[in-house]
Amino acid sequence: MRNKSFYIQTFGCQMNERDSETLAGMLRDSGYYESPVRNQADVIVINTCSVRENADKRFFGTLGQLKAVKRERPDTVVAVCGCMMQQQHIIETLKAKYPWVDLIFGTHNIHEFPELLANVLNEREKIVAVWGRAENIIEGLPSMRKNPYKAFVNIMYGCDNFCTYCIVPFTRGRERSREPKAILHEVYRLVEDGVREITLLGQNVNSYQGMVSEEDSEIKKETSFAELICLLNKTEGLERIRFMTSHPKDLSEELIEAYVSCEKLCPHIHLPVQSGSTKILSMMNRKYTAEAYLKLVERLRSRVPDIAITTDIIVGFPGETEQDFDATLNLVKTVGFDSAFTFLYSARKGTPAEDFKDQVPESIKHDRFNRLVNILNITSAEKNKALVGTTEEVLAEGKSKTNAALFTGRTGGHKLVNFKADSDVSGHIVKVLITNSTTFSLTGRASEV
Ligand code: 5AD
Ligand code: SF4
Repeated sequence: MRNKSFYIQTFGCQMNERDSETLAGMLRDSGYYESPVRNQADVIVINTCSVRENADKRFFGTLGQLKAVKRERPDTVVAVCGCMMQQQHIIETLKAKYPWVDLIFGTHNIHEFPELLANVLNEREKIVAVWGRAENIIEGLPSMRKNPYKAFVNIMYGCDNFCTYCIVPFTRGRERSREPKAILHEVYRLVEDGVREITLLGQNVNSYQGMVSEEDSEIKKETSFAELICLLNKTEGLERIRFMTSHPKDLSEELIEAYVSCEKLCPHIHLPVQSGSTKILSMMNRKYTAEAYLKLVERLRSRVPDIAITTDIIVGFPGETEQDFDATLNLVKTVGFDSAFTFLYSARKGTPAEDFKDQVPESIKHDRFNRLVNILNITSAEKNKALVGTTEEVLAEGKSKTNAALFTGRTGGHKLVNFKADSDVSGHIVKVLITNSTTFSLTGRASEV
């Protein structure tokens, strides 16, 4: 019998990407190989995101395409998972309109995937297995990474913040931190496997609280996020530590000091501000004011002068007036972000903000979005230009996809660099003289390895 193939299509954030690596690892361990072409694979998995309506729409668009695949090759298994599956109305829609989907599972039971898939194949029946809430964290699941030198490492799951626009606390459940020891072991294994840079993942890493179940002389009973970074900083062979995402409301002084004392922690922070209006921040339940955010940025910069600061901003939250939006523009100008992800507010079923009055019309949202992006792009271009003539440390990830004569990688501040080098420098931290810049990237040449 020929080996069977799989293809995983992932929507959404790094959490989902990491989950897909686990799904791929489980399929590999069950004897499947990865197909480069989705519509020819024997098992097609769609890992969904529900953070904005656009992701929902793209998922249903993808299902539309897969219907034709199922018609041509009925033996193909179509499995869907991820955040959308944690919403009852989505399950109802799938049952009613897409009855040919073979397997539906959720965010809390991805470890069950091999068993569920085997049942689908053996019984040839449709399975819906979604858990309403998370059980214990399951350790030791396999993983198949896309990048040989960089890895995502989950340190916590779920979110307790309930920002009023956000579906995540409903789809990913309550906050749960992994034990520090399990994280350290995973990182040691990754480094042995050639990984040079890790990104610690959590919806709100600042509220990480690692408990140690057994007596351990090296690790404290309760490990804070900053302490976890300091423990990881000692890992021989590991070059860089990053993390995502931190909530401004509980970014500690201890974490700011970790940037100073842990040389592997990259000088970059992704610190979503969401809005520059304190009124809107309060309606979003963000629990900080615009002033407090600006003070935090000042504190970070006074201790870590070269820190790159990136952010997320939502435009057109219900009740956002022209004045509120001006406050966002002012904050953006004051901070001077290195880059930002900008989003049009998208009402999510079951979140409080869905029912807020004064929803902002689409045309106004788009107009504000464009004005904001223009300002953000000017700053990004200026920040990049200021690096021309400097030498930056870049983790070389391999050849550039668009130009095989160049290598590609990122600086400590997470800026994309395409550069010339005389030998294959992949997997090394290289000193690169920056010779040119655009709004979104830098170019240069390696000066030494
Ligand atoms: N509408 C628009 N953007 C959203 N985000 C989260 N929920 C919504 C929503 N309902 C954005 C936030 C968050 C990022 C991951 O997605 O900016 O930080
Ligand atoms: Fe959503 Fe807020 Fe939690 Fe981030 S912190 S996942 S925006 S609820």
